[in-house]
Amino acid sequence: MTEPTKEPVSFLFSNSPTVAELLLKPISSKNPIVNDVKIRRLYLQASSQQWFAPQRIDFDLPVDLDPESRRVWTRFTEIFYTLEKMGLNVIANMMAKAVRKLKSEEAASYLSAQCYDESRHVFVIENYLKKLGAPPEYDRKYHILGQVASMGFYRVENWLFSTLFSENFASVFLRRAKAARIDKFGSEMCKYLLMDESRHLHFLHIVLPDILDRLSLFGKTYVKMSQFFIMKFTEIMSRSLETDAKVVGMDRQALLEEVFDNVERAYENFGVSARFLPFPKIAPSYS
Ligand SMILES: [Fe+2]
Ligand SMILES: [Fe+2]
Repeated sequence: MTEPTKEPVSFLFSNSPTVAELLLKPISSKNPIVNDVKIRRLYLQASSQQWFAPQRIDFDLPVDLDPESRRVWTRFTEIFYTLEKMGLNVIANMMAKAVRKLKSEEAASYLSAQCYDESRHVFVIENYLKKLGAPPEYDRKYHILGQVASMGFYRVENWLFSTLFSENFASVFLRRAKAARIDKFGSEMCKYLLMDESRHLHFLHIVLPDILDRLSLFGKTYVKMSQFFIMKFTEIMSRSLETDAKVVGMDRQALLEEVFDNVERAYENFGVSARFLPFPKIAPSYS
């Protein structure tokens, strides 16, 4: 079960198989319900990819946007800030519960690295907002998302499945924002955040199939309902952002379609058919 790796590990200083075995071997925990070998490896990778924003991004870069684009990026960034801040609060609250539920010591190390990633995201976005001339403010309108994602029954399962949606949303948004009409600082910010969000998705692809396998029929139904609510809420909220998205060259409908497609593909990879999870209809673009 804890097969040592024979291949060189790119993020380790030494190529020695003995060192790899020493560092990659999971701490023994009794009957983890997830793959501890993969989680430990991801923890090491996450540790090797940590970055300190003021050393990576030039905070001196001017935000040279026309007034209309500045207004749009301020609005979008305020929402993104709220979602990341919510994500940070929720992961901090859910970490210990997840470790207990998954019976995985490796998850304790890994999730603490991911929690730090999220604090870094909040920090960078907060400073981008300051550069845009807007004080960072948590928008209570979106608070319900965090509650639905981490309260009620099946809290741990529900939270992890919700992050499959939110991490996909963040990744697609960041990739599209980077390619849109954005200033240099904003583009750099998207690039570095994207790298972390991809790793967060990797974690979910490791743990979710095992979690889904063990979930009762009632549990599955509960999680599905909560996922549907989160996606529906996002779809409705996004409608009012449509016109502003166009100003900077982003397409709300295409963005949501890409997110839903990614989530659907993930469920298919977990071995459940696309019919398992109902997706809300995306209102067409008016243009
Ligand atoms: Fe994040
Ligand atoms: Fe994330």
